[in-house]
Amino acid sequence: MKLAVFSVKPYDKVYLTQAAEHDPDSGGKIEIEYHEFALSSETVSLATGASAVCVFVNDTLTEDVLTSLHSRGVRAILLRCAGYNNVDIKTASRLGLFVANVPAYSPEAVAEFAVALVQTLNRNTHRAYNRVREGNFALDGLLGRTLHGKTVGIVGTGKIGVAFARIMQGFGCELLAYDPFPNPDFNKYGEYTTLEDLLSRADVVSLHCPLLPPTRHIINEASLRLMKEGAMLVNTSRGGLIDTKAVIAALKKQQLGGLALDVYEHESAFFYNDHSGTIIEDDDLMRLTTFHNVLVCGHQAFFTAEALGEIAGATIRNLTDFVHGRTCQNSLVQSSEEQGAAPTLRARSDTIPIRI
Ligand code: NAI
Repeated sequence: MKLAVFSVKPYDKVYLTQAAEHDPDSGGKIEIEYHEFALSSETVSLATGASAVCVFVNDTLTEDVLTSLHSRGVRAILLRCAGYNNVDIKTASRLGLFVANVPAYSPEAVAEFAVALVQTLNRNTHRAYNRVREGNFALDGLLGRTLHGKTVGIVGTGKIGVAFARIMQGFGCELLAYDPFPNPDFNKYGEYTTLEDLLSRADVVSLHCPLLPPTRHIINEASLRLMKEGAMLVNTSRGGLIDTKAVIAALKKQQLGGLALDVYEHESAFFYNDHSGTIIEDDDLMRLTTFHNVLVCGHQAFFTAEALGEIAGATIRNLTDFVHGRTCQNSLVQSSEEQGAAPTLRARSDTIPIRI
C-alpha cells in the first residue's frame, strides 16, 4: 500500500511516519512518499502508483484532479484536517473514492492558545521580551489589566468554546456565551445571552463558532459599535468571522482595545509558508501588523505535539479502516468497496464545511 502525502512539512513527516509504524493494523506495510508540493492538476502525476493520497487545507481536489487520481489507481483520499471544502465531494462520490477527515483533535490545544493570546496582548509579554533583549527594563507601555473579575464573552460553545470557558473560569472571570444551539456543558461556567448583550458587556470577546454563511463577518462595523470601549477581541476560529476593514477602523478610533488573531480572512495566500523574502501585497494584513495592540499568528492554535499525534493517528486509522473494509467513523464518502454498490454521501451533523 503506497500513500502519497502532499503539502508535507517536516513535522508532518515525523508524526505520520510514527503513526504508520505504531498502528497495530498497518503491519508496517504502508509505504509513504512525501511531497512538499500541494496536490493540484500540476502535481497530480506525483501520485502515480499510490493507492491513497493524504492532503491538507491548501491542496485542491477538483473534479479534474480527482478524475486523474482515480485513473492513476488512487482509491482513498485522507484529509489530515477537519475541513473538506477543498475536495469536490460529489465527484469523489461519483468515482467511488473513499474520503475521510479528522473531525476533532485536542480542543484544549486551541483553547489554551486563545488564552495565551489574551494574556500576551493583555500583559504585553511580547513587547517585554523584545525590550529586555535590548537592555530596556522600562515598564511604560506595558500596563495590563487584572483578568480576575472581568467579563469574558464566548461566541460558540462547542468543544473549543467550553474548553476555553473552563480555563477562563479558573482566572476568576465572569462568563457569558452566545450560541444558537446552547451546550449544557457550558452551564456550569456561565450564562447564555444574546450576541448583542454579550458584546456590550464583555471585556474580552473570543470567537469559537464555525465559519458558515450566517457567521461570516459576525464581527462587523455594527457589532463592533456594540462592544465595550477598549474591549479585546480574540479569533482563533476562522478569519472570515471578522470584517477586517471594520476592525482596522475600530482600532484606529481606539474603540477596540486589542485584537488577537490566529486566523485571517485571506490567510490561504500566506499562512504556513515563509514569505519573508517577498513583498506581501495584502495591505489589510500589513496594516494589522503595525498596531501595537494587535497580535497576528499564522494559524497555529492547533499546533501541539499532542494534536499532531492525534491527527496523524486518526489519519492512519482512517486508511487502515479503508484497507481492511471496516466502517470508518470519519468517512465523508463511502467508497464503492465499502458500499458494494453506488457510493453515497454520508451526512454527518458534526462536519462543517470550512474548518481545519
Ligand atoms: P464545534 O462544532 O464543537 O463547536 C462550534 C460551536 O459553534 C457549536 O456549539 C455551534 O452550535 C456554534 N455555532 C454555530 N453557529 C453559531 C453562530 N451563528 N453563533 C455562535 N455559535 C455558533 O467546533 P469546535 O471544535 O469547538 O471548533 C470551533 C472552531 O474552531 C472551528 O469551527 C474551527 O473554525 C476552529 N478551529 C481552529 C483551529 C486553529 O488551529 N486555529 C483548530 C481547530 C478548529
